[in-house]
Amino acid sequence: MDLLKMLDTRPLELPEQYRKMSIEELEARVREIKAELGDQLFIPGHHYQKDEVIQFADATGDSLKLAQLSAENQLAEHIVFCGVHFMAETADILTKDYQKVYLPDMRAGCSMADMADIYQTERAWTKLMDLFGDTILPLTYVNSTAAIKSFVGEHGGATVTSSNAEKMVRWAFEQKERLLFLPDQHLGRNTAFNIGIGLEEMAIWNPIKDELEFEGPLENVKVILWKGHCSVHENFTVVNVHEVREKYPDMKIIVHPECRREVVALADLAGSTNYIIEAIYASPAGSAWAIGTEQNLVKRIIKEHPDKHIISLNPHMCPCLTMNRIDLPHLVWCLDSIVQGEPHNVIEVDAIVAENAKKALNRMLAQS
Ligand code: 13P
Ligand code: SF4
Repeated sequence: MDLLKMLDTRPLELPEQYRKMSIEELEARVREIKAELGDQLFIPGHHYQKDEVIQFADATGDSLKLAQLSAENQLAEHIVFCGVHFMAETADILTKDYQKVYLPDMRAGCSMADMADIYQTERAWTKLMDLFGDTILPLTYVNSTAAIKSFVGEHGGATVTSSNAEKMVRWAFEQKERLLFLPDQHLGRNTAFNIGIGLEEMAIWNPIKDELEFEGPLENVKVILWKGHCSVHENFTVVNVHEVREKYPDMKIIVHPECRREVVALADLAGSTNYIIEAIYASPAGSAWAIGTEQNLVKRIIKEHPDKHIISLNPHMCPCLTMNRIDLPHLVWCLDSIVQGEPHNVIEVDAIVAENAKKALNRMLAQS
């Protein structure tokens, strides 16, 4: 990309006036715009969003639920996605042409999604085809770029989320004898392990070195895990688990499957953000939980359950920094631009990319 084009695609910066507004003014402005736009506006909010934002969400959910809701909504012309870039891209792919999707801060990416780019994926695929022939189906976690989803869709594969990964991995094995799981090695490993695939049957694809990491005969490989991870969930460790077990022997540990295999193996339960929320809701007053997921969600669960003893599995965790980029000033700035008729921060996936990405997403939605 040349320099001028690059400068052109730089995210716009929040104007000073929004930094100067008080919380009360910002909140009043959101209410005013929501009332003005009514059903024309839909604000989906992921569970990891800050409270100051989530209070204005029309629907909250995990990435599967938000994808389903985006696909179902035919009314709203403006979808202001409070989540991260790949979620807004997914919404754009699944919505109709007359609907526009916005991300209040274009810098709200996902470090895991950035760990697989399309060029690395194409190179990997060529090498894997040489090694294994036409025996592999690609699956990608929704936490990936639209280009990766498109590649996967074009090659007969599907997307997965943390709440349907098991179902999708089983589905993949009905199509081909092996699978390539992008870009989260931990979700891939935890899911494959849960359906009975041994760790010794899983290889790793290293996209930096462009090579397969595996010891043993290649015919034993069933799952190829892309060497990516979530920089938030990798911070939950076996040491954290031992510390909680020692200090609170009766406490249950529940983690997101983006955590490392060793942590998931030692936890009592593992599942998507929705699964975690529901498990804690269903538990009786007085129960005790250590949660291994993003901090905004953990703090919200703690606040909503004053009758339970709930802590973060790692007491030194920070929130997901990119999720946190969506704040009240950015939300108001985005909404203002819509009512002023000069919208910015529009997420528009290229039509050809979207066509194949939609195949991958629809294969998942059909199974969910
Ligand atoms: P969920 O699918 O559980 O919402 O998780 C999305 C995510 O980004 C977790 O890090
Ligand atoms: Fe991405 Fe991890 Fe943040 Fe989820 S928590 S959006 S996987 S960086």
